[in-house]
Amino acid sequence: MRIIRVKDYQQMSRAAANIISAQVILEPKSVLGLATGSSPIGAYQQLIEWYKKGDVDFSQVTTVNLDEYVGLTPDHDQSYHYFMHRNFFDSVNIDPQRINIPDGCAPDMAAECLRYDGVLRGLGVDLQLLGLGNNGHIGFNEPGPVFSKGTHIVTLTDSTREANKRFFASLEDVPKTAVSMGTFDIMQAKRVLMVASGKAKAEAVKAAFFGPITPQMPASILQFHRDFTLVADEDALSLL
Ligand code: GLP
Repeated sequence: MRIIRVKDYQQMSRAAANIISAQVILEPKSVLGLATGSSPIGAYQQLIEWYKKGDVDFSQVTTVNLDEYVGLTPDHDQSYHYFMHRNFFDSVNIDPQRINIPDGCAPDMAAECLRYDGVLRGLGVDLQLLGLGNNGHIGFNEPGPVFSKGTHIVTLTDSTREANKRFFASLEDVPKTAVSMGTFDIMQAKRVLMVASGKAKAEAVKAAFFGPITPQMPASILQFHRDFTLVADEDALSLL
């Protein structure tokens, strides 16, 4: 485990974007595992800027996203499909055919989970980008009695729905379920990069990376990953 300590959100975003662009420059056909939430937005903005300057080219990259809300159509402004297009895909030259996001509106969600796991197995993720939930979740793998394995349907915890309600009109509008890559799936990535910023993440950072490895703190499993980098700012590291 490698921890890169930075001053603030802006430096975190630049450091993460540097790692992602180095991956793409070294291996133009990289498979990038991508994340949503406010934490990676700055990194996406930086990558867009470098793309526009001609410093990085995404034309051969394939992407797989971590998760999606169940029941939100791709054009819903809080769906992760919409988020990814607005915050990244629409501004770079990623081939739309090479974008993979779980379908939260599939008629048979069990079949969709199997399909997505097949996609993940077939591709193999080179670099997985992650945010960190306030309760230690990664993707939408919530605290529970066991670590999840493959893509599955998740019942979101009250804490996660509460944290994410800022993006919706009210708590009632936040979906109660989501489809997420499993923890085992995430651990299969060759490299994992997490971004964490702000005091709200400090408890989870301390518990996940300086406490016991337990499914009650899903991110703690990353202590076992052979190439895991946490880029965190001073506030997120303030309890260490
Ligand atoms: C959501 C996403 C996670 C993300 C988390 C933290 O629950 N499913 O992938 O890491 O929010 O979001 P933020 O970065 O906005 O704090």
